[in-house]
Amino acid sequence: MKTLIENFGRFNDHVVEKIVLKNNNNFQISLLSQGAIWNEFSVPVEENKKINLLLNFNSIDSYYSNPFYIGMSIGRTGGRIKAGKLTLNDTTYNLSQNENTNTLHGGETGFHSFIWDYETFQTDDTVSVVFSKRVSPQDDSYPGVLDVEIEYILNNKNEVIINYYGKAVDQDTVFNPTNHAYFNLEQSDNILDHELKINSHQILSMGQEKIPTGLFKETAGTPYDFHKFTFLKNAIEDLQSIPEKGIDDVFYIDQPSDCPIATLKSNRFNHQIDIYSQRNGLVVFTANSFTSDMNLSTGKGHPYQGIALESQTLPDTLNHKNFGNILLKKGQSVTYQTKIAYTHN
Ligand code: GAL
Repeated sequence: MKTLIENFGRFNDHVVEKIVLKNNNNFQISLLSQGAIWNEFSVPVEENKKINLLLNFNSIDSYYSNPFYIGMSIGRTGGRIKAGKLTLNDTTYNLSQNENTNTLHGGETGFHSFIWDYETFQTDDTVSVVFSKRVSPQDDSYPGVLDVEIEYILNNKNEVIINYYGKAVDQDTVFNPTNHAYFNLEQSDNILDHELKINSHQILSMGQEKIPTGLFKETAGTPYDFHKFTFLKNAIEDLQSIPEKGIDDVFYIDQPSDCPIATLKSNRFNHQIDIYSQRNGLVVFTANSFTSDMNLSTGKGHPYQGIALESQTLPDTLNHKNFGNILLKKGQSVTYQTKIAYTHN
């Protein structure tokens, strides 16, 4: 096990640190103190060859010069909140409206924008970093002070575990965090030859501006049916006539269980990642609208370069009774876990 701290340049006049965590099998993840960004998941694929399974940038400025939240920590709430209005205990809070009149991914100054404190830890079988911050309403316009910790663990089973801890300090608030990593298991041009399986039979129906209507749609017989392994190119080809030209949807996860909620597989390298989560939603976004002005470390941006698999509670939660519970009562705390388990088949 090994931990290294490197300099990742400066952003808004402060130093950004890159925390590199290595396990005993030559796997490596790295995280940035800015945005608690997950920057790298490198795995050995052939003798003397490692590939990074995540899209990333070599400079911190490039992360913030596009609207795609690449690798960023997202909170207090992932997804869109209609008209930026959050009603809690009969009070309506006006959140930052950063996508038309709606709030996306915690607003302008969400978790992705913070400079996080951090501490690193090591045991015989794990290396980890815990990012922490006390978030106040002045920071992000959500109600109440929220203590947050985001922990990234790499272990010798080649799993990456993300723990999101939140505690409502002085009044009730909401907590529905996620991470916005984009995977490409081949470090290649696109994910069209990847296969995806999701433990889901329904997606959320969405109205204008991709706000959930409250209804669920069966996926059987549609391009969104990933109940069995399906090549992403099949779905993406079938979706060329819709404005998104690909997948940008919220999958409702069948009864949480010990099975993975999703598996992404590359036959080229004969490897896969299994995603585990106990929450009821998975946002899948196939990078449909990536643009050529993005200077990713592997080249210029273009559609379908990666796939974001964001485990979370269904978004716009407070506006729909049956979407789940993201409420944190004053004094209450919660930990959500997402596990990404790598296997070479
Ligand atoms: C996804 C969302 C997409 C897009 C993306 C970030 O979670 O569903 O519509 O906003 O984030 O650019």
